[in-house]
Amino acid sequence: MTESRVPRRRRFLVCEPRHFAVQYAINPWMRPDVPVDVSLAQKQWRELIDTYRAHGHTVHTVEPVPGLPDMVFAANAAVVVGGRVFGSLFKAPERRPESVPYDTWFKSAGYDVYRPESVCEGEGDFVPAGRWILAGTGFRTTREAHHEAQEYLGVPVIGLTLVDPYFYHLDTALFVLDDEGEGNIAYYPEAFSPGSREVLARLYPDAVIATREDAMAFGLNSVCDGRHVFISPKATALAGRLADRGYVPVPVDLSEFHKAGGGIKCCTQEIRS
Ligand code: ARG
Repeated sequence: MTESRVPRRRRFLVCEPRHFAVQYAINPWMRPDVPVDVSLAQKQWRELIDTYRAHGHTVHTVEPVPGLPDMVFAANAAVVVGGRVFGSLFKAPERRPESVPYDTWFKSAGYDVYRPESVCEGEGDFVPAGRWILAGTGFRTTREAHHEAQEYLGVPVIGLTLVDPYFYHLDTALFVLDDEGEGNIAYYPEAFSPGSREVLARLYPDAVIATREDAMAFGLNSVCDGRHVFISPKATALAGRLADRGYVPVPVDLSEFHKAGGGIKCCTQEIRS
């Protein structure tokens, strides 16, 4: 049974991987001894941007800064809801300086930027889902930051505890399919604590459930525009389940970025005006 899904045009902020590298290890995917092919990474990233534009989405870019190899993961720099920019306070000292160029970009685009007091990593852990924001904790973003985000954005924040270090950010274990009406998501239940699994089952009885293989292939680090799902080509079981529900999987391979623990969504900040 397939329904006809309607896409909504999005505005994305991205950062070219000109200085991308794995120079330190702050998640289990990162191995500084394994080389990164920067020209392949650039090619894969370019393909993602071209694909977004071909599907009608607007893509803005922030200028990459030398010495900030993870700056390509634009999703981590802020969460933007209703034109309000809630900035990040990165956990790792290596990533803290990334906030400066991102905050500058938002300010020059005419936004105020809220500077949080507690550790939080933007859309890595804050996933706006329409009526509420799903928020991860356990590895990076703190409970205190969930509270700060709710106060600043004025949107209910629902805390979820992550328990598997391979899925250290919420956006590695869950993504939003629909953010209107009841809304819907896809996720990998085992990445969450028992209580958080119950919360997700209660909120989303109709969710698309992913396997561990899908999740390890960064299949949940996807971006959906309401119809198209920009997804890792290796998440085959998940792509099949999404197609059964009337979504259109659009495979984009970001394998070089998996070496840093990132995928499609990590490279994509959504600006919700
Ligand atoms: N190396 C980066 C880190 O560990 C990867 C970030 C991936 N981004 C994401 N939204 N999950 O911080």
